[in-house]
Amino acid sequence: MIGLEEVKAVMDVMLSNKGTRWTVGPESIAFETELATVTGVKRAVVVNSGSSALLIATAALKLPKGSKILVPACNFPTAFNAIIQNGHIPVVVDVDLSTFNISLDEVREALVQHPDIAGVIAVNIAGNPVDLIKLREIVGTRKIILDDCDGYGTTLNDKFVETYADVSCVSFHAAHIITTGEGGAVLTDDENIANRAVKLREWGRVSGTDKIYDYPGFPVDYKERYVYEEIGWNMKPLELQCAMGRVQLRRLQEFKDARRLNYHRLDKIFVNHRAFTTLGHLPNSDPCWFSFPLMVNGDNRGQIMQTFEDQNIETRTVFSGNILKHPAYKDVELIKIGDMKNADEIMKRGMFLSCHPSLTPDMIQFISDVASKI
Ligand SMILES: Cc1ncc(COP(=O)(O)O)c(C=O)c1O
Repeated sequence: MIGLEEVKAVMDVMLSNKGTRWTVGPESIAFETELATVTGVKRAVVVNSGSSALLIATAALKLPKGSKILVPACNFPTAFNAIIQNGHIPVVVDVDLSTFNISLDEVREALVQHPDIAGVIAVNIAGNPVDLIKLREIVGTRKIILDDCDGYGTTLNDKFVETYADVSCVSFHAAHIITTGEGGAVLTDDENIANRAVKLREWGRVSGTDKIYDYPGFPVDYKERYVYEEIGWNMKPLELQCAMGRVQLRRLQEFKDARRLNYHRLDKIFVNHRAFTTLGHLPNSDPCWFSFPLMVNGDNRGQIMQTFEDQNIETRTVFSGNILKHPAYKDVELIKIGDMKNADEIMKRGMFLSCHPSLTPDMIQFISDVASKI
């Protein structure tokens, strides 16, 4: 969904200042201001991916090492990794089959078993929002980190879902709702979290300025740009990405409307199809759909996906399925609540079709024709 305006915005950055404007600067700052305004939060910090946003958001909370953090078994690996890579302990709960999202009953159960849980990473699978209002009632003042990498633009009670979490993460990967090629952002109302996120994004340095750092024991000529207050990374986006992101952000509603229309067209095809079960979403939500999620009723998902793929209709499995089944996590210290039977079912029978804004009614008719032979 890249048009001439995006190309021009990138070119303008490339050609300005003799091509010296690469790293975070005026475009990044403007993109951050616009993202915060559109989302309805105080601060946005742009980074180079949604995965980086998750790592930084979790680190910026400054929870003590070894904190217990709830996470659904069916997620995207880098949501899970953000807990482990920050030295915390994942407390893994199952998901609901009707949404593929974290089970609030299991969250309640986990809190009974482990009242010292410090926070939760809630993942909006495919843009379908977790009931963040209920989740807040359940977890109280514990931290909510929202992974809305799939569904930027999703609302709950007419407010962006990011406004319900302590800190939220979005992705601007090419497949996502708005794109900078690769990219992402941390969104929050908390100035301390945002300021820490900026430092973590930029090697841990105090700021990018030449201001003298006034600190006991420091040479009097040391500039803030060479002083490190956090143990950081380099996760900065490029200026040309942010220039493109600003144009994309202005098109958010256009993309959301097109995705919603395609979702409903697909829903009509699959809602009564004998081979599939469709999912639900909260009545007070307006999801910005990343894709169209489905459960295959039988044990023949592979065959069904192949039928679509043979006709050049792209399909995907539901990210990790049950993350605990993946080899990377076999020796990780974690706590399991329950048996993850729903995440296992999703791993065996869940799938996505696309509801990308570029799909035309003819293409969706074609999907319908192929589906009618299943
Ligand atoms: C739910 C979810 N979280 C996180 C990510 C990671 O985002 P990125 O690819 O920008 O690192 C993705 C990527 O597709 C995702 O789907």
